[in-house]
Amino acid sequence: NFEKTLRPSTLQEYIGQKDLKQNLSVFIRAAKQRQEALDHVLLYGPPGLGKTTLAYILANEMHGNIKTTSGPSIEKSGDLAAILTTLEPGDVLFIDEIHRLPKQVEEVLYPAMEDYCLDILVGKDSATVHNIRLTLPPFTLVGATTRAGDLSAPLRDRFGIVSQLEYYTLEDLEKIVNRTSHVMDTTIDSEATHEIAMRSRGTPRIANRLFRRVRDFAQVYNEGIVSLDVAKDALDRLKVDHLGLDAVDHKYLRGIIERFKGGPVGLEAIASSIGEEPMTLEDVYEPYLLQIGFINRTPRGRVATPKAYEHLQISYQNPLFE
Ligand code: ADE
Repeated sequence: NFEKTLRPSTLQEYIGQKDLKQNLSVFIRAAKQRQEALDHVLLYGPPGLGKTTLAYILANEMHGNIKTTSGPSIEKSGDLAAILTTLEPGDVLFIDEIHRLPKQVEEVLYPAMEDYCLDILVGKDSATVHNIRLTLPPFTLVGATTRAGDLSAPLRDRFGIVSQLEYYTLEDLEKIVNRTSHVMDTTIDSEATHEIAMRSRGTPRIANRLFRRVRDFAQVYNEGIVSLDVAKDALDRLKVDHLGLDAVDHKYLRGIIERFKGGPVGLEAIASSIGEEPMTLEDVYEPYLLQIGFINRTPRGRVATPKAYEHLQISYQNPLFE
């Protein structure tokens, strides 16, 4: 399977997130020496930085299987019980978007995480109903979320390992693009690698997506060779600018600047003015714009900074920054 080879399967192969990787490798070795399951792991950070990839790696390194699900897809506690009872010792249960687990499902998770126990109600009516407790095998819950702040405190506190993933450096993105080109048997020169990495917003998923599209242009126009010219031309045609901002970023920034005088403006108001979902803007677009200093979040809403005006070549006129 192609995706499988594109995703690194060991910590050793995983590029970037150096501190996190070093810590995880210690926790893995220690758990293995004690012949225990790895403690539960919470991974948080913007989308596309490798949370799912890490969950697969953890399962692989612990020689366990992985079962994957997501917060919104578990509607009832019975749905979770059905998954928990299929686990074998040392397995990883991966729950993506764990901040979206329904409250009553979360409560089933607490004893499962803490004592490997599953409490279920059985019986037909109030006279016969009673609680039975099933023992689960030792397992590792790996939870992923873009919003650690949206997790309830009791859930967050039950993770022994809590790690934030960070945007990747240019150097690491270049390594990832090189690795991907190698996996996909494509010739790419170092300037083209650099160009793709520059426009990937610190995000491997975007780097890999841009790489694939650039490779398409190279195949059709340049006998499959990814040169700087082909890369630049392809990325321009994809409307990805030299900082990696795409059409939605531009619409969003222009929206704040042109319709709301640079802000402050509430998320809902911007979202409806440009026809995007507030949640998508908040989880996918804003984190990077905040990171590169193009917007600020204030108690009264979002504000475009002078840097954003400059990038869009709009003359700056918000008195907030004068
Ligand atoms: N592909 C996507 N993310 C990666 C990473 N962090 N390391 C190696 N290959 C990757």
